[in-house]
Amino acid sequence: MTCTIVVGGQWGDEGKGKIISYLCKKDNPSIIARGGVGPNAGHTVEVDGEKYGIRMVPTGFPNVNAKLAVGAGVLTDPEVLIKEIKMLEKFNVGERILVDYRCGIIEEVHKELDKSNEHLSKEIGSTGTGCGPANVDRAMRTLKQGKDVESISKYLGDVSEAVNDALEAGDNVLIEGTQGSLLSLFYGSYPYVTSKDTNAASFAADVGVGPTKIDEVVAVFKSYPTRVGEGPFPTEMTVEEAESLGVVEYGTVTGRRRRVGYFDHELAKKVCRLNGATQIAITCLDKYDSDCYGVTDYEKLSEKGKAFIKEVEEKVGVKVTLISTGPKLEQTIDVRNE
Ligand code: GTP
Ligand code: IMP
Ligand code: MG
Repeated sequence: MTCTIVVGGQWGDEGKGKIISYLCKKDNPSIIARGGVGPNAGHTVEVDGEKYGIRMVPTGFPNVNAKLAVGAGVLTDPEVLIKEIKMLEKFNVGERILVDYRCGIIEEVHKELDKSNEHLSKEIGSTGTGCGPANVDRAMRTLKQGKDVESISKYLGDVSEAVNDALEAGDNVLIEGTQGSLLSLFYGSYPYVTSKDTNAASFAADVGVGPTKIDEVVAVFKSYPTRVGEGPFPTEMTVEEAESLGVVEYGTVTGRRRRVGYFDHELAKKVCRLNGATQIAITCLDKYDSDCYGVTDYEKLSEKGKAFIKEVEEKVGVKVTLISTGPKLEQTIDVRNE
């Protein structure tokens, strides 16, 4: 039995979606539980040549044997949830999803405020998905909970009980975090952060699992980090540099162009300590060196690619166990058991 938390090591969009779906296929957890803020996160998962952009359903959905859970800590937008369940009908998501009855509910008013409030929409550059204003109401104890919403009643249950039952039965459990460590309300570049902590301990709390039950924390880093919205980015490169390197990305939720930078080893080290990371996953190694594209065997990586991985391990002090060399699940190097 292993309980694993996957956490973003930068400002979100590290490719957690791809890493999580890979782990869920490979390790066959009986339950995949989503933590994090809410539908402000957009993950992209590519299955059999088809791309799915999702914001509420756990990204482990391609494993059709697993139960999917959304923890009590997560804000739920019923409209988005129902739409995604429909979109993912062929994966039988509606039959497998369990949303905690205590999750916070985002309503129209929260989305309107997120978009119309100048401070949030302009200065912070929020995603406009209503998360910040909903967390305000949650702290004020005026927010609706899942149990108050008829349209999602058939998906509701006790996620903490389900996850702890699975752990007691000796099953693998995967807890997926959203956003990234540097967007944390507590540890990020305040005020240019999201409306909650986004580190491993909070993801455990979001789904109702105690710290003593966690075995592995996988921190995911992208070879060229990106950031959407405002706020400091110490290793940011110019738009021209990013274009010449071929790293041009747009946000899954907002469609905004992502700012791009160079890998920051010093920050990565801090993030790993903050999360108690036991492993590192590096994504988009193919963007760092196109010769690495699609490689599935560590020995076949280019010298440049291997040097990048070694430098991360040396400077950060945590082993790189997973390397992603393309968006598809099979484009992964897995050296966890070596
Ligand atoms: P957040 O919750 O917002 O952090 O989402 P995320 O971490 O899942 O990242 P997101 O899906 O927003 O963006 C990552 C993008 O990179 C997606 O389009 C993925 O398909 C793609 N991707 C993931 N891994 C790789 C990789 O190794 N190489 C390449 N070329 N693309 C990748
Ligand atoms: P909010 O979470 O919508 O309030 O946005 C606050 C800040 O966090 C903005 O800079 C957003 O761009 C950023 N942010 C929130 N969620 C994500 C995410 O999943 N990926 C990337 N950036 C995010
Ligand atoms: Mg994203």
